[in-house]
Amino acid sequence: MSQVKITVDNKTYEVQEGSLLIDLLIKEEIKVPYFCYHESLGADGNCRMCMVEIEGQKRPQIACDTPVKDGMVVHSQGEKLPIEKIRKDILELELINHPVDCPICDQAGECSLQEFYMDYGLHNSHMYGLEKVLQRKHIDLGSNVMLDQERCVLCARCTRFTAQVTHTHELGIVGRGDKAHITTMPGRKLDNPYAMNVVDLCPVGALTNKDFRFKQRVWFLESSESVCTHCAKNCNIYIDHNKLKYEDENIYRFRPRKNQGINGFFMCDEGRLSYKELLQNREYEPSRIDGKFIVKDSISNAKNIAIIVGASLFNEEIEMIQEFAKRIDAKLYCPQDIYINEDFEDDMLRSKYKVANIKTIQNQNIADEMPSEVELLINFNHPSVTDADAKEIISFQTHKNSLETLLTLPIATYVENSGSFTNIDGVTQHIKKALSPNNPVPSIQEWFKRLEL
Ligand code: SF4
Ligand code: SF4
Ligand code: FES
Repeated sequence: MSQVKITVDNKTYEVQEGSLLIDLLIKEEIKVPYFCYHESLGADGNCRMCMVEIEGQKRPQIACDTPVKDGMVVHSQGEKLPIEKIRKDILELELINHPVDCPICDQAGECSLQEFYMDYGLHNSHMYGLEKVLQRKHIDLGSNVMLDQERCVLCARCTRFTAQVTHTHELGIVGRGDKAHITTMPGRKLDNPYAMNVVDLCPVGALTNKDFRFKQRVWFLESSESVCTHCAKNCNIYIDHNKLKYEDENIYRFRPRKNQGINGFFMCDEGRLSYKELLQNREYEPSRIDGKFIVKDSISNAKNIAIIVGASLFNEEIEMIQEFAKRIDAKLYCPQDIYINEDFEDDMLRSKYKVANIKTIQNQNIADEMPSEVELLINFNHPSVTDADAKEIISFQTHKNSLETLLTLPIATYVENSGSFTNIDGVTQHIKKALSPNNPVPSIQEWFKRLEL
Protein backbone atom coordinates (compact mmCIF):
# COMPACT_ATOMS: atom_id res chain seq x y z
CA MET A 1 0.00 0.00 0.00
CA SER A 2 1.18 3.51 -0.74
CA GLN A 3 1.84 6.36 1.69
CA VAL A 4 -0.69 9.18 1.88
CA LYS A 5 -0.67 12.61 3.51
CA ILE A 6 -3.30 13.59 6.06
CA THR A 7 -3.66 16.60 8.33
CA VAL A 8 -4.60 16.29 11.99
CA ASP A 9 -4.99 19.46 14.06
CA ASN A 10 -3.13 21.48 11.39
CA LYS A 11 -0.12 19.16 11.28
CA THR A 12 0.60 16.94 8.28
CA TYR A 13 1.47 13.25 8.64
CA GLU A 14 2.52 10.60 6.15
CA VAL A 15 0.78 7.30 6.80
CA GLN A 16 0.01 4.08 5.03
CA GLU A 17 -3.15 4.33 2.95
CA GLY A 18 -6.03 2.44 4.51
CA SER A 19 -4.50 2.25 7.99
CA LEU A 20 -6.81 3.18 10.85
CA LEU A 21 -6.98 6.83 11.84
CA ILE A 22 -6.96 5.90 15.54
CA ASP A 23 -3.58 4.16 15.17
CA LEU A 24 -2.04 7.43 13.97
CA LEU A 25 -3.68 9.36 16.82
CA ILE A 26 -2.35 6.87 19.38
CA LYS A 27 1.14 6.83 17.84
CA GLU A 28 1.37 10.62 17.71
CA GLU A 29 -0.12 10.92 21.21
CA ILE A 30 -3.00 13.06 19.93
CA LYS A 31 -5.51 12.83 22.76
CA VAL A 32 -8.77 11.11 21.85
CA PRO A 33 -10.75 9.06 24.39
CA TYR A 34 -11.65 5.45 23.58
CA PHE A 35 -12.87 2.35 25.40
CA CYS A 36 -13.51 -0.42 22.91
CA TYR A 37 -10.61 -0.10 20.45
CA HIS A 38 -7.41 -1.98 21.23
CA GLU A 39 -4.49 -2.39 18.88
CA SER A 40 -4.49 -6.16 19.42
CA LEU A 41 -8.23 -6.59 18.85
CA GLY A 42 -9.02 -4.08 16.12
CA ALA A 43 -12.12 -1.92 15.78
CA ASP A 44 -15.49 -2.80 17.22
CA GLY A 45 -17.08 0.62 17.13
CA ASN A 46 -19.37 0.05 20.10
CA CYS A 47 -18.36 2.76 22.59
CA ARG A 48 -18.55 5.79 20.21
CA MET A 49 -16.03 7.67 22.38
CA CYS A 50 -13.37 8.14 19.71
CA MET A 51 -15.37 10.67 17.65
CA VAL A 52 -13.40 13.21 15.61
CA GLU A 53 -14.34 15.82 13.05
CA ILE A 54 -13.34 15.12 9.45
CA GLU A 55 -13.69 18.02 6.98
CA GLY A 56 -16.33 17.31 4.34
CA GLN A 57 -18.26 14.91 6.60
CA LYS A 58 -21.54 16.20 8.01
CA ARG A 59 -21.44 14.06 11.14
CA PRO A 60 -18.71 13.15 13.64
CA GLN A 61 -16.81 9.98 12.70
CA ILE A 62 -15.28 7.28 14.91
CA ALA A 63 -11.51 7.28 14.48
CA CYS A 64 -11.23 3.56 15.25
CA ASP A 65 -13.13 2.49 12.14
CA THR A 66 -11.98 5.19 9.72
CA PRO A 67 -9.29 4.23 7.20
CA VAL A 68 -7.08 7.17 6.27
CA LYS A 69 -7.35 8.67 2.77
CA ASP A 70 -5.05 11.08 0.97
CA GLY A 71 -5.81 14.71 1.77
CA MET A 72 -8.01 13.94 4.78
CA VAL A 73 -8.27 16.86 7.23
CA VAL A 74 -9.06 15.80 10.80
CA HIS A 75 -9.76 17.78 13.97
CA SER A 76 -9.48 15.96 17.29
CA GLN A 77 -11.40 18.82 18.92
CA GLY A 78 -14.60 20.09 17.32
CA GLU A 79 -14.31 23.03 14.90
CA LYS A 80 -17.78 22.97 13.35
CA LEU A 81 -19.21 19.88 15.06
CA PRO A 82 -19.91 19.53 18.81
CA ILE A 83 -17.30 16.80 19.45
CA GLU A 84 -16.71 17.77 23.09
CA LYS A 85 -20.45 17.72 23.85
CA ILE A 86 -20.83 14.26 22.30
CA ARG A 87 -18.00 12.89 24.45
CA LYS A 88 -19.53 14.43 27.54
CA ASP A 89 -22.98 13.00 26.74
CA ILE A 90 -21.60 9.49 26.13
CA LEU A 91 -19.78 9.63 29.46
CA GLU A 92 -22.95 10.73 31.17
CA LEU A 93 -24.77 7.73 29.69
CA GLU A 94 -21.96 5.42 30.79
CA LEU A 95 -22.22 6.73 34.32
CA ILE A 96 -26.00 6.49 34.75
CA ASN A 97 -25.77 3.03 36.27
CA HIS A 98 -22.09 2.92 37.12
CA PRO A 99 -21.54 2.38 40.88
CA VAL A 100 -18.70 4.96 41.05
CA ASP A 101 -16.97 2.94 43.72
CA CYS A 102 -13.55 4.37 42.84
CA PRO A 103 -12.41 4.59 46.50
CA ILE A 104 -12.53 0.79 46.82
CA CYS A 105 -11.83 -0.09 43.19
CA ASP A 106 -8.45 -1.57 42.27
CA GLN A 107 -8.51 0.10 38.87
CA ALA A 108 -8.51 3.57 40.45
CA GLY A 109 -5.42 5.37 39.20
CA GLU A 110 -5.34 3.47 35.92
CA CYS A 111 -9.03 3.61 34.93
CA SER A 112 -10.04 5.08 31.57
CA LEU A 113 -13.49 6.00 32.86
CA GLN A 114 -12.01 8.02 35.73
CA GLU A 115 -9.54 9.73 33.42
CA PHE A 116 -12.06 10.51 30.67
CA TYR A 117 -14.52 11.91 33.21
CA MET A 118 -11.83 14.29 34.47
CA ASP A 119 -10.70 15.21 30.91
CA TYR A 120 -14.00 15.33 29.02
CA GLY A 121 -16.92 14.82 31.45
CA LEU A 122 -17.03 16.88 34.62
CA HIS A 123 -20.82 16.97 34.25
CA ASN A 124 -23.35 17.03 37.04
CA SER A 125 -25.74 14.10 37.01
CA HIS A 126 -29.22 14.67 35.62
CA MET A 127 -30.50 11.45 37.19
CA TYR A 128 -32.14 12.74 40.36
CA GLY A 129 -34.04 10.31 42.55
CA LEU A 130 -33.67 7.33 40.23
CA GLU A 131 -32.32 4.02 41.57
CA LYS A 132 -29.31 2.63 39.68
CA VAL A 133 -29.71 -0.76 38.03
CA LEU A 134 -27.91 -3.20 40.32
CA GLN A 135 -25.88 -6.14 39.03
CA ARG A 136 -23.61 -8.78 40.55
CA LYS A 137 -20.40 -7.41 42.03
CA HIS A 138 -18.19 -10.35 43.06
CA ILE A 139 -18.11 -13.06 40.43
CA ASP A 140 -15.15 -15.39 40.40
CA LEU A 141 -14.81 -16.07 36.66
CA GLY A 142 -11.93 -18.51 37.18
CA SER A 143 -8.22 -18.17 36.38
CA ASN A 144 -7.74 -15.48 39.06
CA VAL A 145 -10.15 -13.07 37.35
CA MET A 146 -12.94 -11.37 39.33
CA LEU A 147 -15.87 -9.66 37.61
CA ASP A 148 -17.90 -6.72 38.89
CA GLN A 149 -20.77 -6.40 36.41
CA GLU A 150 -21.80 -2.93 37.58
CA ARG A 151 -18.45 -1.39 36.65
CA CYS A 152 -18.46 -2.76 33.09
CA VAL A 153 -18.77 -0.33 30.16
CA LEU A 154 -19.57 -3.19 27.74
CA CYS A 155 -16.61 -2.43 25.49
CA ALA A 156 -16.38 -6.14 24.58
CA ARG A 157 -12.58 -6.20 24.72
CA CYS A 158 -12.67 -9.23 27.04
CA THR A 159 -15.14 -11.17 24.90
CA ARG A 160 -13.19 -10.34 21.75
CA PHE A 161 -9.97 -11.52 23.44
CA THR A 162 -11.44 -14.94 24.18
CA ALA A 163 -12.96 -15.09 20.68
CA GLN A 164 -10.10 -13.75 18.56
CA VAL A 165 -6.91 -14.39 20.52
CA THR A 166 -7.32 -17.53 22.64
CA HIS A 167 -10.26 -18.89 20.57
CA THR A 168 -11.71 -20.30 23.80
CA HIS A 169 -14.99 -18.27 23.72
CA GLU A 170 -15.67 -18.43 27.47
CA LEU A 171 -17.05 -14.89 27.78
CA GLY A 172 -20.11 -13.24 26.28
CA ILE A 173 -22.51 -10.32 26.73
CA VAL A 174 -26.09 -11.29 27.56
CA GLY A 175 -29.21 -9.25 28.29
CA ARG A 176 -30.39 -6.02 26.73
CA GLY A 177 -30.18 -2.29 27.43
CA ASP A 178 -29.30 -1.50 31.02
CA LYS A 179 -29.53 -5.22 31.92
CA ALA A 180 -26.77 -6.20 29.50
CA HIS A 181 -23.79 -7.75 31.26
CA ILE A 182 -20.68 -9.86 30.85
CA THR A 183 -20.87 -13.49 31.88
CA THR A 184 -19.27 -16.84 31.19
CA MET A 185 -21.09 -19.30 28.97
CA PRO A 186 -23.40 -21.57 31.00
CA GLY A 187 -21.49 -24.13 33.03
CA ARG A 188 -18.11 -22.74 32.00
CA LYS A 189 -15.30 -20.92 33.76
CA LEU A 190 -12.73 -18.60 32.27
CA ASP A 191 -10.07 -21.20 31.73
CA ASN A 192 -7.15 -20.75 29.36
CA PRO A 193 -3.41 -20.16 29.90
CA TYR A 194 -3.69 -16.49 28.89
CA ALA A 195 -6.93 -15.63 30.73
CA MET A 196 -5.50 -12.92 33.00
CA ASN A 197 -4.78 -10.67 30.01
CA VAL A 198 -8.46 -9.67 30.10
CA VAL A 199 -7.66 -7.74 33.29
CA ASP A 200 -5.11 -5.58 31.43
CA LEU A 201 -7.50 -5.18 28.50
CA CYS A 202 -10.46 -4.09 30.63
CA PRO A 203 -10.38 -0.27 30.59
CA VAL A 204 -12.25 -0.04 33.90
CA GLY A 205 -12.37 -1.99 37.18
CA ALA A 206 -14.89 -4.58 35.98
CA LEU A 207 -12.24 -7.28 35.67
CA THR A 208 -9.65 -7.39 38.41
CA ASN A 209 -6.75 -9.67 39.20
CA LYS A 210 -7.52 -11.84 42.23
CA ASP A 211 -3.84 -12.15 43.00
CA PHE A 212 -3.26 -8.38 43.07
CA ARG A 213 -6.54 -6.80 44.17
CA PHE A 214 -6.60 -5.00 47.52
CA LYS A 215 -2.83 -5.45 47.93
CA GLN A 216 -1.59 -2.02 46.87
CA ARG A 217 -2.79 1.27 45.42
CA VAL A 218 -1.30 1.61 41.94
CA TRP A 219 0.03 5.12 42.54
CA PHE A 220 2.40 3.75 45.18
CA LEU A 221 3.96 1.33 42.68
CA GLU A 222 7.07 1.89 40.65
CA SER A 223 7.10 0.21 37.23
CA SER A 224 10.39 -1.13 35.86
CA GLU A 225 10.76 -2.45 32.33
CA SER A 226 12.00 -6.02 32.29
CA VAL A 227 11.31 -9.46 30.81
CA CYS A 228 9.69 -12.64 32.11
CA THR A 229 12.22 -15.41 32.65
CA HIS A 230 9.74 -18.20 33.32
CA CYS A 231 10.34 -19.57 29.83
CA ALA A 232 12.73 -18.91 26.95
CA LYS A 233 10.33 -16.53 25.14
CA ASN A 234 11.33 -13.61 27.42
CA CYS A 235 8.02 -11.76 27.11
CA ASN A 236 8.40 -8.05 27.82
CA ILE A 237 6.91 -6.99 31.12
CA TYR A 238 6.59 -4.26 33.69
CA ILE A 239 7.64 -5.23 37.18
CA ASP A 240 5.43 -3.24 39.57
CA HIS A 241 7.17 -2.95 42.92
CA ASN A 242 7.64 -0.69 45.89
CA LYS A 243 9.43 -0.33 49.17
CA LEU A 244 7.15 0.39 52.12
CA LYS A 245 8.51 2.30 55.08
CA TYR A 246 10.67 0.00 57.27
CA GLU A 247 10.24 -2.86 54.81
CA ASP A 248 12.22 -4.28 51.92
CA GLU A 249 11.48 -4.07 48.19
CA ASN A 250 8.47 -6.14 47.24
CA ILE A 251 7.09 -7.14 43.84
CA TYR A 252 3.31 -6.85 43.55
CA ARG A 253 2.68 -7.89 39.99
CA PHE A 254 4.05 -8.53 36.52
CA ARG A 255 2.19 -6.94 33.61
CA PRO A 256 2.82 -7.47 29.89
CA ARG A 257 4.65 -4.68 28.02
CA LYS A 258 4.06 -4.20 24.31
CA ASN A 259 6.76 -5.57 22.02
CA GLN A 260 5.50 -6.55 18.58
CA GLY A 261 8.71 -8.48 17.91
CA ILE A 262 8.30 -10.81 20.91
CA ASN A 263 5.04 -11.02 22.82
CA GLY A 264 2.76 -8.46 21.17
CA PHE A 265 0.57 -7.19 24.02
CA PHE A 266 0.25 -10.29 26.15
CA MET A 267 1.92 -12.76 28.50
CA CYS A 268 0.84 -16.13 29.88
CA ASP A 269 -0.70 -16.49 33.34
CA GLU A 270 2.01 -18.78 34.65
CA GLY A 271 4.68 -16.25 33.71
CA ARG A 272 2.61 -13.44 35.20
CA LEU A 273 2.45 -15.19 38.57
CA SER A 274 6.10 -16.31 38.51
CA TYR A 275 7.11 -13.13 40.39
CA LYS A 276 6.23 -15.01 43.59
CA GLU A 277 9.13 -17.44 43.25
CA LEU A 278 11.68 -14.67 42.73
CA LEU A 279 11.84 -13.39 46.28
CA GLN A 280 10.86 -16.56 48.16
CA ASN A 281 13.35 -18.97 49.72
CA ARG A 282 16.29 -16.76 48.77
CA GLU A 283 19.90 -17.40 49.68
CA TYR A 284 21.14 -14.26 51.47
CA GLU A 285 24.31 -15.13 53.39
CA PRO A 286 27.50 -17.03 52.46
CA SER A 287 27.70 -20.34 54.33
CA ARG A 288 31.21 -19.42 55.59
CA ILE A 289 33.13 -16.18 55.96
CA ASP A 290 36.50 -17.56 54.77
CA GLY A 291 35.14 -18.07 51.23
CA LYS A 292 38.06 -16.41 49.46
CA PHE A 293 40.61 -18.92 50.83
CA ILE A 294 38.33 -21.92 50.36
CA VAL A 295 37.75 -21.14 46.69
CA LYS A 296 41.44 -20.48 45.96
CA ASP A 297 42.69 -23.54 47.88
CA SER A 298 40.06 -25.86 46.42
CA ILE A 299 40.86 -24.78 42.88
CA SER A 300 44.63 -25.20 43.29
CA ASN A 301 44.31 -28.58 45.07
CA ALA A 302 41.69 -30.27 42.87
CA LYS A 303 42.88 -32.36 39.95
CA ASN A 304 39.61 -32.60 38.07
CA ILE A 305 37.40 -29.48 38.17
CA ALA A 306 34.04 -29.03 36.47
CA ILE A 307 31.80 -26.00 36.24
CA ILE A 308 28.06 -26.31 35.80
CA VAL A 309 26.40 -23.17 34.49
CA GLY A 310 22.69 -22.35 34.76
CA ALA A 311 20.67 -21.17 31.76
CA SER A 312 19.01 -18.56 33.99
CA LEU A 313 22.13 -16.38 33.97
CA PHE A 314 22.77 -13.30 31.83
CA ASN A 315 24.85 -13.56 28.64
CA GLU A 316 27.57 -11.47 30.31
CA GLU A 317 27.71 -13.86 33.28
CA ILE A 318 27.86 -16.95 31.07
CA GLU A 319 30.70 -15.36 29.09
CA MET A 320 32.61 -14.61 32.30
CA ILE A 321 32.12 -18.16 33.52
CA GLN A 322 33.33 -19.55 30.17
CA GLU A 323 36.54 -17.49 30.46
CA PHE A 324 36.94 -18.54 34.09
CA ALA A 325 36.59 -22.22 33.09
CA LYS A 326 39.38 -21.78 30.54
CA ARG A 327 41.62 -20.03 33.07
CA ILE A 328 41.38 -22.78 35.65
CA ASP A 329 41.20 -25.59 33.06
CA ALA A 330 37.74 -26.76 34.17
CA LYS A 331 35.18 -28.60 32.05
CA LEU A 332 32.07 -26.52 31.49
CA TYR A 333 28.63 -28.10 31.08
CA CYS A 334 24.90 -27.37 31.35
CA PRO A 335 22.35 -30.23 31.31
CA GLN A 336 19.30 -28.94 29.41
CA ASP A 337 16.77 -31.70 30.15
CA ILE A 338 15.80 -30.33 33.53
CA TYR A 339 14.52 -27.16 31.87
CA ILE A 340 12.29 -28.87 29.31
CA ASN A 341 8.54 -29.23 29.74
CA GLU A 342 6.92 -30.26 26.45
CA ASP A 343 3.40 -29.81 27.87
CA PHE A 344 4.04 -26.11 28.53
CA GLU A 345 4.73 -25.21 24.90
CA ASP A 346 1.97 -23.78 22.71
CA ASP A 347 1.75 -21.94 19.41
CA MET A 348 1.09 -18.56 21.01
CA LEU A 349 3.99 -17.56 23.28
CA ARG A 350 5.03 -20.36 25.62
CA SER A 351 8.30 -22.18 24.97
CA LYS A 352 9.05 -25.69 26.22
CA TYR A 353 12.29 -24.39 27.77
CA LYS A 354 11.31 -23.06 31.17
CA VAL A 355 14.34 -20.86 31.64
CA ALA A 356 15.36 -17.49 30.18
CA ASN A 357 18.65 -18.05 28.42
CA ILE A 358 18.81 -21.58 27.00
CA LYS A 359 19.51 -20.13 23.53
CA THR A 360 22.91 -18.81 24.64
CA ILE A 361 23.82 -22.19 26.16
CA GLN A 362 22.91 -23.76 22.79
CA ASN A 363 24.62 -21.04 20.70
CA GLN A 364 27.82 -21.44 22.71
CA ASN A 365 27.74 -25.25 22.29
CA ILE A 366 28.16 -25.73 26.03
CA ALA A 367 28.29 -29.48 26.74
CA ASP A 368 25.16 -31.16 28.02
CA GLU A 369 26.81 -34.15 29.72
CA MET A 370 28.45 -34.04 33.10
CA PRO A 371 32.17 -34.99 32.98
CA SER A 372 33.18 -38.08 35.00
CA GLU A 373 35.16 -38.33 38.25
CA VAL A 374 34.85 -34.70 39.17
CA GLU A 375 36.76 -33.75 42.31
CA LEU A 376 35.57 -30.18 42.59
CA LEU A 377 32.30 -28.96 41.10
CA ILE A 378 31.59 -25.24 40.93
CA ASN A 379 27.88 -24.57 40.44
CA PHE A 380 26.54 -21.34 38.99
CA ASN A 381 22.81 -21.56 39.73
CA HIS A 382 22.00 -24.77 37.88
CA PRO A 383 19.02 -26.58 39.47
CA SER A 384 20.12 -30.18 38.83
CA VAL A 385 23.25 -30.48 41.01
CA THR A 386 23.27 -33.30 43.60
CA ASP A 387 25.67 -34.17 46.42
CA ALA A 388 26.82 -37.22 44.45
CA ASP A 389 28.07 -35.17 41.50
CA ALA A 390 31.51 -34.41 42.99
CA LYS A 391 33.65 -34.88 46.07
CA GLU A 392 33.35 -31.20 46.87
CA ILE A 393 30.90 -28.57 45.71
CA ILE A 394 31.11 -24.79 45.74
CA SER A 395 27.78 -23.28 44.82
CA PHE A 396 26.79 -19.78 43.71
CA GLN A 397 23.00 -19.71 43.92
CA THR A 398 20.03 -17.35 44.07
CA HIS A 399 17.75 -19.69 46.06
CA LYS A 400 18.17 -22.14 48.91
CA ASN A 401 18.38 -25.87 48.25
CA SER A 402 19.43 -28.99 50.15
CA LEU A 403 22.92 -29.32 48.66
CA GLU A 404 25.77 -30.27 51.03
CA THR A 405 28.47 -27.86 49.94
CA LEU A 406 31.95 -26.85 50.95
CA LEU A 407 30.82 -23.27 50.41
CA THR A 408 27.55 -21.66 49.29
CA LEU A 409 27.54 -18.08 48.07
CA PRO A 410 24.33 -16.10 47.48
CA ILE A 411 23.95 -14.32 44.14
CA ALA A 412 21.57 -11.63 42.89
CA THR A 413 18.56 -12.58 40.78
CA TYR A 414 18.08 -10.93 37.39
CA VAL A 415 15.78 -8.27 38.87
CA GLU A 416 18.60 -7.09 41.16
CA ASN A 417 21.21 -6.88 38.40
CA SER A 418 21.56 -5.73 34.78
CA GLY A 419 22.50 -7.78 31.73
CA SER A 420 21.13 -9.40 28.59
CA PHE A 421 19.22 -12.55 27.64
CA THR A 422 18.83 -14.08 24.19
CA ASN A 423 15.37 -15.53 23.72
CA ILE A 424 14.45 -18.78 22.00
CA ASP A 425 13.98 -16.93 18.67
CA GLY A 426 17.47 -15.40 18.93
CA VAL A 427 16.43 -11.89 20.03
CA THR A 428 18.86 -10.39 22.55
CA GLN A 429 17.39 -7.91 25.02
CA HIS A 430 19.19 -5.82 27.61
CA ILE A 431 17.50 -5.73 30.99
CA LYS A 432 18.10 -3.08 33.61
CA LYS A 433 18.15 -3.71 37.33
CA ALA A 434 14.60 -3.27 38.69
CA LEU A 435 14.92 -3.72 42.46
CA SER A 436 17.27 -2.21 45.04
CA PRO A 437 16.88 -4.35 48.19
CA ASN A 438 17.93 -3.01 51.62
CA ASN A 439 20.71 -5.61 51.81
CA PRO A 440 21.76 -6.28 48.23
CA VAL A 441 23.20 -9.70 47.42
CA PRO A 442 26.37 -9.59 45.26
CA SER A 443 26.18 -10.45 41.58
CA ILE A 444 28.50 -13.08 40.07
CA GLN A 445 30.65 -10.23 38.70
CA GLU A 446 31.03 -8.83 42.23
CA TRP A 447 31.93 -12.24 43.66
CA PHE A 448 34.62 -12.66 41.01
CA LYS A 449 36.17 -9.37 42.14
CA ARG A 450 35.85 -10.12 45.86
CA LEU A 451 37.29 -13.64 45.49
CA GLU A 452 39.96 -12.46 43.01
CA LEU A 453 39.02 -15.14 40.53
S1 SF4 B 1 -15.62 -6.46 31.60
FE1 SF4 B 1 -14.19 -4.84 31.02
S2 SF4 B 1 -13.31 -5.54 29.10
FE2 SF4 B 1 -15.16 -6.73 29.43
S3 SF4 B 1 -16.76 -5.60 28.36
FE3 SF4 B 1 -16.78 -4.90 30.48
S4 SF4 B 1 -15.48 -3.10 30.49
FE4 SF4 B 1 -15.04 -4.19 28.60
S1 SF4 C 1 5.31 -17.19 27.54
FE1 SF4 C 1 7.16 -17.57 28.72
S2 SF4 C 1 8.24 -15.64 28.85
FE2 SF4 C 1 6.11 -15.24 28.18
S3 SF4 C 1 5.01 -14.80 30.08
FE3 SF4 C 1 4.78 -16.97 29.70
S4 SF4 C 1 6.45 -17.92 30.81
FE4 SF4 C 1 6.93 -15.77 30.67
S1 FES D 1 -12.96 3.19 20.31
FE1 FES D 1 -13.99 3.84 18.55
S2 FES D 1 -16.03 3.33 18.98
FE2 FES D 1 -14.99 2.62 20.71
